[in-house]
Amino acid sequence: MPEDHYFTAVPASDGERRTLHVVLAGRELEVETAGGVFSPDHVDLGTRVLLRSVPEPPATGDLVDLGCGWGPVALTMALLSPAARVWAVDVNERALDLVRRNARRLGVDNVTAVAPQDVPPALRPTALWSNPPIRVGKAALHELLGTWLARLTPDGEAHLVVQRNLGADSLHAWLHDGLGCPVERVASAKGFRVLRVGRPASAE
Ligand SMILES: C[S@@+](CC[C@H](N)C(=O)[O-])C[C@H]1O[C@@H](n2cnc3c(N)ncnc32)[C@H](O)[C@@H]1O
Repeated sequence: MPEDHYFTAVPASDGERRTLHVVLAGRELEVETAGGVFSPDHVDLGTRVLLRSVPEPPATGDLVDLGCGWGPVALTMALLSPAARVWAVDVNERALDLVRRNARRLGVDNVTAVAPQDVPPALRPTALWSNPPIRVGKAALHELLGTWLARLTPDGEAHLVVQRNLGADSLHAWLHDGLGCPVERVASAKGFRVLRVGRPASAE
């Protein structure tokens, strides 16, 4: 499905939603997905590589899943850190609705699913995990990451998964040389790289 559908989808009707059996945070769970969101039939391979490579999320504070889709990353953070506040952010209303439904279904009460413009401006995440929307194009991706990485707390960390064939290494170079962030490749598997990224030196 072309990525522009992600930006226009309205919440899925009862008939459009389907259940999916997944393993998140080491637990076998049933979640709801629907067409019109990213990877509705399984947990995406890149997302699985990310979730295998990240450290335990901070136990408290604000944690962000940037580009949450139906929620595999945000739900994992929330299950692992029940005392933290998890912000699941996406431009796709259908995805946000599915995250809310999935959080309710799993009895998780610490996820807030919001559009980017509804994120409190003062939010300063200690951790940001993302399978970012590479297909929005380089300029939009750089703007998105520049905005979000500058919001990290001084010792906050982002973990980003990017497909090697979709420019992981040039993104790594831009994050370091262009944005001035500390960056380390912490995993490379199945054609994906996972980058650990700190706040840009220029951030207040
Ligand atoms: C590669 S998908 C990852 C989805 C989900 N995290 C997963 O692992 O299945 C990227 C997501 O970013 C979302 N997205 C696109 N532009 C965005 C933006 N400006 N801000 C936040 N999310 C955005 C897309 O709608 C899509 O759901």
